[in-house]
Amino acid sequence: MDPKKTLSITDNRTGRTFEIPIENDTVRAMDFRQIKVEEEDFGMMLYDPAFTNTASCKSRITYIDGEKGILEYRGYPIEELAEKSTYLETAYLILQGELPTSSALEEWSYHVTHHTLLHENIKKFIDGFRYDAHPMGIVISAMAALSTYYPQSKKVQDAESRRLQSYRLIGKMTTLAAFAYRHSRGLPYVYPTNDLSYPGNFLSMLFRMTEKPYKPDPILERALDVLFILHADHEQNCSTSAMRGVGSSQADPYVCIAGAASALYGPLHGGANEAVLRMLSRIGNLDRVPDFIRRVKGGETRLMGFGHRVYKNYDPRARIIKRIADQVFEVTGRNPLLDIALELERIALEDEYFIERKLYPNVDFYSGLIYQAMGFPVDMFPVLFAIGRTAGWLAQWQEMLTDPEQKIARPRQVFLGAARRSYVPMKKRKPLETTHA
Ligand code: ACO
Repeated sequence: MDPKKTLSITDNRTGRTFEIPIENDTVRAMDFRQIKVEEEDFGMMLYDPAFTNTASCKSRITYIDGEKGILEYRGYPIEELAEKSTYLETAYLILQGELPTSSALEEWSYHVTHHTLLHENIKKFIDGFRYDAHPMGIVISAMAALSTYYPQSKKVQDAESRRLQSYRLIGKMTTLAAFAYRHSRGLPYVYPTNDLSYPGNFLSMLFRMTEKPYKPDPILERALDVLFILHADHEQNCSTSAMRGVGSSQADPYVCIAGAASALYGPLHGGANEAVLRMLSRIGNLDRVPDFIRRVKGGETRLMGFGHRVYKNYDPRARIIKRIADQVFEVTGRNPLLDIALELERIALEDEYFIERKLYPNVDFYSGLIYQAMGFPVDMFPVLFAIGRTAGWLAQWQEMLTDPEQKIARPRQVFLGAARRSYVPMKKRKPLETTHA
């Protein structure tokens, strides 16, 4: 063992020293199990609630340098992909590892486009939801229901089957999302149109009324495509870890995506842009911004859309989104909340409180303003996020299944509960003093 590539650990309980190999700047948690006081001990574990410093996999998909504000898919900077690529091309890149040739892209787009239709029964399934059902709840449930239509998707070790399910999942996600939206509006469902682009077809399924043919606005179509690119993957975040965790039991990809989308549904993950809009509306006008910032600094509230667990610099996606916002507002008219957002950002970036804590705008600070200007209700924001993220979830799922080091995910625990005791007869029991969660 190269002594320069090891970690020496002395257990002061026993005085014993251990040499732990270092690989890729990490140590293997299992190497700690040899550290024991008594031979029959279980051995030392690593305690890391919320996985703030634990790598659960080796990955070759997405690279983030949070200090420098860098995001790359398969080595390509997000800025270049947002400028030059399309969502479908980026989805291919994320899944296959390389940019497609023109014939590969044509074939890939053909297959995704030809898998956008849903079984007619799914419409009835969606019809069963209340008129005011949250579209994310509909999409998650309908996605899980799709599992029953494709039993062959259970062959998760079969590369051909995985490829077919990827076409279906990326294709059908937009249709499910659009149907969920139309249901909430009481509007008839619009079927996919194959001669439109991926985002163009989505806009048609969402907003088409009686036009023949429906022509999406090219600026909005491109803006949506770029937003999908920006959300396509973000390495081992909460929903992606859910995708890998559920998938590690070899469950089919439909239920895995339903699980991942459920994780995304939470306000700390996919719901933050909704919180930004609520905050901007509450502030209401420019005069109230300084007072709001004062309250944030006093710990009374948070500046939503600012700060990130990984980025300690301007989120590179926020920079791109800010540019798209200008283009979208030229078509839709300026969102009046934008001025409040710009003023909050201006003050925050100059203020010691935010500078010291490295709080910068994240992807959610401006995305909600764009979605709102495009006519999306707030409920649809996490659904839009889920559409883009489907490519990343699938790529991470595939990487996990083909990684010989991966097994069913099964963390350990530090047990602090009651020691072994005998069953208490009913008449000797005492009422609980506190309620247990
Ligand atoms: N406004 C004001 N202060 C903040 C904010 C904020 N948005 N975010 C962090 N801080 C402060 C904290 O109060 C803390 O200050 P202290 O050291 O004086 O106690 C310090 O910055 C560090 O904050 P943590 O909560 O420890 O940072 P963490 O990495 O756990 O949290 C998070 C990251 C959850 C994103 C946080 O910044 C936040 O709540 N932001 C607002 C919500 C948001 O925009 N979420 C979207 C994230 S992007 C995404 O999920 C797609």
